[in-house]
Amino acid sequence: MAKSLTLAVVVALVAALLHATSAQEVHVVGDSLGWIVPPGGSVAYRVWADTQTFTAGDILLFNFTTGNQDVARVSKEAFDSCNATNPIWISTTGPVNFTLTYGGAYYFIGTMDKHCSLGQKLAINVTGASGPTTSPAPVTPAPASPRAPVTYVVGGDLGWIVPPGGSIAYATWAYGKTFMVGDTLVFKFTNGTQDVAVVTKSAYDSCDTSTTITILTTSPAKVSLTTTGEHYFTSTYSKHCDLGQKLAINVVGTSGTSSAPAPEPGSTLSEAEIAESPTTPPPAANSAHSTALAGIFGTAFASLIVAFLA
Ligand SMILES: *[C@@H]1O[C@H](CO)[C@@H](O)[C@H](O)[C@H]1NC(C)=O
Ligand SMILES: *[C@@H]1O[C@H](CO)[C@@H](O)[C@H](O)[C@H]1NC(C)=O
Ligand SMILES: *[C@@H]1O[C@H](CO)[C@@H](O)[C@H](O)[C@H]1NC(C)=O
Ligand SMILES: *[C@@H]1O[C@H](CO)[C@@H](O)[C@H](O)[C@H]1NC(C)=O
Ligand SMILES: *[C@@H]1O[C@H](CO)[C@@H](O)[C@H](O)[C@H]1NC(C)=O
Repeated sequence: MAKSLTLAVVVALVAALLHATSAQEVHVVGDSLGWIVPPGGSVAYRVWADTQTFTAGDILLFNFTTGNQDVARVSKEAFDSCNATNPIWISTTGPVNFTLTYGGAYYFIGTMDKHCSLGQKLAINVTGASGPTTSPAPVTPAPASPRAPVTYVVGGDLGWIVPPGGSIAYATWAYGKTFMVGDTLVFKFTNGTQDVAVVTKSAYDSCDTSTTITILTTSPAKVSLTTTGEHYFTSTYSKHCDLGQKLAINVVGTSGTSSAPAPEPGSTLSEAEIAESPTTPPPAANSAHSTALAGIFGTAFASLIVAFLA
C-alpha cells in the first residue's frame, strides 16, 4: 500500500518534471504592449524582460504590424549604439517567432527610423537547457545592515505614471531594493495628471481609494519611511490603480543614522509621514507562495503577484 503510493508519487513527479523540461515557453515580447516604440522609452522592455525567465528552446514572439515595425537580432555593441547596419537576423514581417536555441545574451532592436534610440530594444539572458530545470532559489531580502538613508525616485526614469506594461512595472522597480526606516520615496509626476495615495493593503488590493491614509497632489511628492512593514501606494485618479499605478514595498530595520535625510536644495517637497501600522504582517522570508515566482520577484512580492493574477 505504502509502496504503491510512493510509486504513484514518483511517477507523478517524473511526469511533471518531463513536462516542465519539454515545455517550450512562448514569450510574447512586451505582452499586450507588443513590439512597438514604447511610450515610456526602453525601460518598458527592460521591465518586461525582468518579469520573464528565458530558457534555451523558448520562443520570443515579436507581435508587430508589417510595415510599421521590424525586428533585428544584433550584437551587444550594435544594441548599445543602435547600429542596424549589420544585423545577425532580421524580420520585416510580423508577427514573427524567434527561437532561443542556446543559452546566453540576446539583443534585439527595431531598425526603422529612430525606433531603437526611442526605446524599441530588448536585451535578455537565456539560461542553457542543461539537465532538468531546477527552480531558482528563493531570493531572500538583503540583510538589514546599517547604512545611510537612501532617497529613491519611484519608477526611476519612468516616474509615477500609469505604467505601459501594467502593475508589474512598479513591482519590478521595487524588486531587489532594500527599503529602511529613514529612507525617502520621491514620486515624480506632472501636476494635475497624477496623485499619490497612501493606502491600506485592502485598498491597494481592491483599488478602492474612497478611503486613503494620505493623498499627495504636488510633484515631487516626498514620503519619509518612518515605520517598518508593508507600505502601499496608488492613485485616486479613475482607473489608474486598476491599470497598474500601484506600489507595495516592505520596509525593514533602520538605516544607519536616525536623522531624517536632508531635503534636496532648491526643491519644494511636500512631505507625508507614514505613521499607520501595516494591516498585515510582512510575509515571512521563507513562506514563498510559489518558488518560481519567488525566484523572480522575491518572497516579499509573491503575494503582490498573486494579487495581480487574481
Ligand atoms: C498581437 O497584437 C494584436 C493587436 O494588438 C492582438 O490582437 C493579438 O492578440 C496579439 N497577439 C498575441 C499573440 O499577443
Ligand atoms: C555600425 O556597424 C558597422 C559594422 O557592423 C560599422 O562598420 C559601422 O562603422 C558602425 N557604425 C557606427 C555609426 O558606429
Ligand atoms: C509562434 O510559435 C507558437 C508556438 O509554437 C505558435 O503557436 C505560433 O503560431 C507561432 N507564430 C508565428 C507568427 O509563427
Ligand atoms: C545578463 O547577465 C550578465 C551577467 O550576469 C549581466 O551582466 C547582464 O546585465 C545581464 N543582461 C540582462 C539584459 O539581464
Ligand atoms: C507642482 O506644483 C507645485 C506647487 O504649485 C510646484 O512647486 C511644483 O514645482 C510643481 N511640480 C511640477 C513638476 O510641475
